[in-house]
Amino acid sequence: MKVSPSILSCDFAHAADELHMVKNTGADMVHLDVMDSVFVPNMSFGPPVLACMRPHSDMCFDVHLMMKYPDRLLDDFAKAGADIINIHLESDAPIADTLARIRALGKKPAITIKPKTTAEEVFPYLEMVDMVLVMTVEPGFGGQSFMQDMLPKIAQLRAEIDRRGLAVEIQVDGGINADTAKLVAEAGADVAVIGSALFNSPDPKALVDQVHAL
Ligand code: DX5
Ligand code: ZN
Repeated sequence: MKVSPSILSCDFAHAADELHMVKNTGADMVHLDVMDSVFVPNMSFGPPVLACMRPHSDMCFDVHLMMKYPDRLLDDFAKAGADIINIHLESDAPIADTLARIRALGKKPAITIKPKTTAEEVFPYLEMVDMVLVMTVEPGFGGQSFMQDMLPKIAQLRAEIDRRGLAVEIQVDGGINADTAKLVAEAGADVAVIGSALFNSPDPKALVDQVHAL
């Protein structure tokens, strides 16, 4: 499975060093959590901070927009250096239009679903995205416990994507560590977002190697 470290758990005063650390683990991309304090209770950072980080990493920037109106800042996130722009199905954006705009900006569109949203609700958008992110915690905070009852949803999405012969990847985010990564890999996920488990690990590279082997 691919690994996308979530830098929400990093030391932002030393973000450049943290990005170098992530690169040295051999991870596949970097997951950047944007929170607006409206769609989720928490707040993180926006395009100016993303632009500051961009020169310090050549990795793919996978930007997870936990925003009520993600459509309002698409150009800014694109200019700031996002490679994948991921919007929530539950946001107030016009979903199909917003995904098409992300593609027109030359970026990869992705869509995220919260734990209470069903797999079927994302089916109409599968042809429009490069990736579907299944939240395995309620979005908003790092360090929460993995919700095991999300596993059937991952399997259901895997089956539908394969049935349609699409190249859409399934990503999971929330409470992922070496043990839960194994469960989501078995259910059919392709990419593991890992926040606290990676940044709190004494050997982040070993964790990435372990998840790569799944
Ligand atoms: C939570 C964020 C996650 C978070 C994951 O809303 O979307 O990306 O950083 O952190 P862990 O891996 O600690 O659950
Ligand atoms: Zn995230």
